[in-house]
Amino acid sequence: MTTIAVTGKGGTGKTVLSALLIHFISQKTTNVLAVDADPDSNLPDALGVAELVENTLGDVREVFQVSRDEMGTTNKEQWLEGKVYAEVICECDNFDLLVMGRPEGEGCYCFANNLLRGVLRRLMRHYDYIIIDSEAGLEHFSRKTIESADYIIVVTDMSKKGLSTAKRIKELSEELDLGFKEIFLVGNRITNKEAEEVIRSFAEQNNIKLLEFLPYDEKIAELDLKGEPIVNLPEDSAYYQKVKGIAEKIEELHVRSITS
Ligand SMILES: Nc1ncnc2c1ncn2[C@@H]1O[C@H](COP(=O)(O)OP(=O)(O)OP(=O)(O)O)[C@@H](O)[C@H]1O
Ligand SMILES: [Mg+2]
Repeated sequence: MTTIAVTGKGGTGKTVLSALLIHFISQKTTNVLAVDADPDSNLPDALGVAELVENTLGDVREVFQVSRDEMGTTNKEQWLEGKVYAEVICECDNFDLLVMGRPEGEGCYCFANNLLRGVLRRLMRHYDYIIIDSEAGLEHFSRKTIESADYIIVVTDMSKKGLSTAKRIKELSEELDLGFKEIFLVGNRITNKEAEEVIRSFAEQNNIKLLEFLPYDEKIAELDLKGEPIVNLPEDSAYYQKVKGIAEKIEELHVRSITS
């Protein structure tokens, strides 16, 4: 199992990148779990599967929270596990999708979260690849609903804020002890060499491995305007080809990890 968390400042292009990575990787293996870990969920739209999403993990947690006292002797972990498999995991053509959904309401959710942690741990073991579209705060990792990540891909744009968020994410990932093997930086919507130089030297100074520069691609904006999923991006788009290269690198890392 190889887990990849895509994170970075708001609006830098995390969801577009995650969706396309899921698209490429799931063309070669059907054992992919896509996770939308952003409460303001839009990965299903980017993947073109929004109509298949029934419930989020947050919805099921809420139902559990209000009904647990009346459950009597029902095994609560089994109940949650059954709900997650039947109502949350969404089976798409080449991959499964899990939408984490809304954060907890008022009150103590420790019990529910402890049970869910076990449910997710067991669920995730079934997959070769888990690709997580996360927000910059790595909320689900800090709450330990998701316990580890092998690779963290931080997306930045050409802004100073994008880089300072990347630095904060690096520190946070280390503090959270996620057991990651590598933290990568991807520059997105990069339109000039000067910006590449700034990002390159930032990566060196902060010991983050520079993975790729992705261009601004007007075909992405066209799809946005038409409300079409990003997976419809044409093959001759520069962005498409570069992300395909990133997906191949991830596949190499995965193969290396299972053969070593
Ligand atoms: N390389 C690119 N070229 C052109 N447009 C892009 C590119 N990357 C992303 N976009 C556009 O930028 C916007 C933000 O992208 P996206 O939703 O992937 O960012 P995000 O980091 O997931 O945002 P949020 O923090 O809100 O979840 C979208 O409208 C997307 O289509
Ligand atoms: Mg997003």
